[in-house]
Amino acid sequence: MPSLLLLFTAALLSSWVHLLIEANSWWSLAMNPVQRPEMFIIGAQPVCSQLPGLSPGQRKLCQLYQEHMAYIGEGAKMGIKECQHQFRQRRWNCSTVDNASVFGRVMQIGSRETAFTYAVSAAGVVNAISRACREGELSTCGCSRTARPKDLPRDWLWGGCGDNVEYGYRFAKEFVDAREREKNFAKGSEEQGRVLMNLQNNEAGRRAVYKMADVACKCHGVSGSCSLKTCWLQLAEFRKVGDRLKEKYDSAAAMRITRKGRLELVNSRFTQPTPEDLVYVDPSPDYCLRNESTGSLGTQGRLCNKTSEGMDGCELMCCGRGYNQFKSVQVERCHCKFHWCCFVKCKKCAEIVDQYTCK
Ligand SMILES: *[C@@H]1O[C@H](CO)[C@@H](O)[C@H](O)[C@H]1NC(C)=O
Ligand SMILES: *[C@@H]1O[C@H](CO)[C@@H](O)[C@H](O)[C@H]1NC(C)=O
Ligand SMILES: *[C@@H]1O[C@H](CO)[C@@H](O)[C@H](O)[C@H]1NC(C)=O
Ligand SMILES: *[C@@H]1O[C@H](CO)[C@@H](O)[C@H](O)[C@H]1NC(C)=O
Repeated sequence: MPSLLLLFTAALLSSWVHLLIEANSWWSLAMNPVQRPEMFIIGAQPVCSQLPGLSPGQRKLCQLYQEHMAYIGEGAKMGIKECQHQFRQRRWNCSTVDNASVFGRVMQIGSRETAFTYAVSAAGVVNAISRACREGELSTCGCSRTARPKDLPRDWLWGGCGDNVEYGYRFAKEFVDAREREKNFAKGSEEQGRVLMNLQNNEAGRRAVYKMADVACKCHGVSGSCSLKTCWLQLAEFRKVGDRLKEKYDSAAAMRITRKGRLELVNSRFTQPTPEDLVYVDPSPDYCLRNESTGSLGTQGRLCNKTSEGMDGCELMCCGRGYNQFKSVQVERCHCKFHWCCFVKCKKCAEIVDQYTCK
């Protein structure tokens, strides 16, 4: 019965492929909440062996820095949420498909979208760890120890407790890159190209957080005269980091691997990417149709905007397949009145609006 054997082999192969994806994904820390540090028993290791998705090196780091794991999970979650915000109106909308592989197979393609995902989640980890240091949540770091900026006015104090972005950067580099550094592919192979791509994009994400951290100050002095200021280093809002990385996504560089095992521009007339830029090695699929083998979910059933000419417009979103129209009731606040003093009272109005979804 050769067909049965074939079926069996196929099942085996598909479960193996599934494992491969699963093993890849520290992002799953975002989906499966990590126990808080106070729950850990010092010296007990099972926590790290039970966390899904860690590579061997990441598991070792977990054992050394157990209390960091909840923040890595938080960072990954923040990255995923930001990705979903930035891509909400696009065909690929950064939706998560399950708890283990998180984004599913689309991440096997070395596309621009994959590049963004790596960058924004690495950025999330820097952000979460830097803040946790400042908040005194981690025993191995505290407030930022960045030197006083030279251009800070002399009479302003430098010394508030700042976000420890140096530590956050270093730790995220160690942890996030670990799984890439463990891989040992032949020089010049496609797989090695993908490793270099991931490393570059992880770095770009971390640097975005690092670069955008800025000085924040607070006034003191008699009745808010602001004669005295205390200043410290503060992370930028994560939304701004997301916006910046989205710009980097738009200008991402297409690369290929050379026989010597380095990434080079596909089109040598373009400018060389800096460590702050995103790079990709594969063209993006069009994400129009559901495809199990690429992991694309397709756009059938997605809401679209009939009048927009952008990516959220029905024409582009539905890939020319057309759309269905339906009416939906939207409840909004309306007839708002200001009452003395001091609140606003609104009524609820139901409005019937036309909505469109892709065929
Ligand atoms: C993912 O994990 C969370 C928390 O453990 C759980 O609530 C949720 O149902 C899971 N989702 C799937 C699709 O397995
Ligand atoms: C899925 O995508 C692959 C790779 O692009 C393509 O070869 C295949 O024909 C697609 N399958 C379907 C069902 O569209
Ligand atoms: C993202 O796309 C998927 C697949 O098309 C869809 O199921 C999901 O509802 C979308 N999410 C949002 C927030 O639009
Ligand atoms: C649809 O797109 C138009 C043009 O870009 C915009 O003015 C309008 O607010 C959008 N509608 C919705 C519901 O987003």
